[in-house]
Amino acid sequence: MIFQKAHQLKGEVTVPGDKSISHRAVMFGSLANGTTEVLNFLQGADCLSTIDCFRKMGISIENTPEHILIHGKGLHGLRKPDGILDAGNSGTTTRLISGILAGQLFETTLTGDASIQKRPMRRIIDPLTLMGADITSLHDNDCAPLCIKGSSLHSIHYHSKVASAQVKSAILLAGLYADDVTKVTEPTVSRDHSEIMLRYFGAQVHTEGTTATICPEPSLRGQKVCVPGDISSAAYFIAAGLLVPGAEVLIRNVGINPTRDGILKVAQAMGGDITLLNITRDGEPTADLLVKHSTLHGITIEGDIIPTLIDELPIINVMAACAEGTTIIKDAAELKVKESNRIDVMVNALSAMGCDIIGTQDGMIIHGGKPLHGTVIDSHMDHRIAMSFAIAALIADGNTEITGSDVVTISYPNFYEDLLKLTQ
Ligand code: S3P
Repeated sequence: MIFQKAHQLKGEVTVPGDKSISHRAVMFGSLANGTTEVLNFLQGADCLSTIDCFRKMGISIENTPEHILIHGKGLHGLRKPDGILDAGNSGTTTRLISGILAGQLFETTLTGDASIQKRPMRRIIDPLTLMGADITSLHDNDCAPLCIKGSSLHSIHYHSKVASAQVKSAILLAGLYADDVTKVTEPTVSRDHSEIMLRYFGAQVHTEGTTATICPEPSLRGQKVCVPGDISSAAYFIAAGLLVPGAEVLIRNVGINPTRDGILKVAQAMGGDITLLNITRDGEPTADLLVKHSTLHGITIEGDIIPTLIDELPIINVMAACAEGTTIIKDAAELKVKESNRIDVMVNALSAMGCDIIGTQDGMIIHGGKPLHGTVIDSHMDHRIAMSFAIAALIADGNTEITGSDVVTISYPNFYEDLLKLTQ
């Protein structure tokens, strides 16, 4: 797909439902007794993979344009799937389902696409094995396909080396099936959607500092879940609104959970004009975001804020490329093990557009302000890379061609249509 410089960016956009929350609604709804209704569910390929896995384990899930209905069968209601479970491109599906499978009294094989089969699974294999599950990486490379033999599990207090909501959630979900209280301590707090939603479904989950605790064998009850708009999807329009001269865009109903809102803090610290309107604080907090074109300056992004914006770092790189001065990103080595190696891919692709950027062990250094020019960009089949460069193209001279641009169906199927509406 080919993109050109934008002459304007104006109007309103409503981004689709949050990917992390949509996954969890299907999973927890499947483990609850009774029906769970999900509104504003993200119809992206990743979340459809989660639905597919639970249907294969005997859960009836109705997916209509109005809502999703999950007819849960309780904590012990899953059945052994006939074939292999396929998580597609979704790390969240793979890692969280592994935690659930660890507590089932049947054996399952779980795999995914070429990218999933390269992503590290040792981070969940270790704690789930300590709890009593028997997990084999079938190619003996610590990646999927995984054969998971569940059992009755022991509780643990796990100290994770990485701040990862997928790791934390896998352990908490296995903790539902453990013999006592399970605890996870992380180096910094990662997104807490599992804790919030499990509590809402009736589990006893507590958080103190960087430690989350769950009590076993709760009776989960089906609920109505209203999924807020995904701040990770809103991030592309935040950047477009800040970068395109004269732009003004209103992004409606965006989730602003403090474990996810690093993009707002960073954009504002860079000089971005963003106003939060109509804030709601019932359950997952939301706001409408009014974003106006701004002159940005470079900053240092490091430490505890990193997990709160980890998925937004590719688009933050684009903002930094257009900002005056230097942006330094540290403590973000996790970028190397996302859907692509996002340090290498961003450094190569932004350099190709004329940006002064170098990769480091755990991030990048960007000397912003050089004009960008269009070129051919390979998405590396990574949705966040494709969307980041569709935005970079809006401020670059000449044409930018993105190959593999269809990959946005993973998290934002109508992304290009929504972007076009704002620029026309
Ligand atoms: C997610 C957690 C994050 C994030 C991913 C979604 C989740 O991954 O990058 O897109 O839904 O729990 P990690 O847990 O690997 O940091």
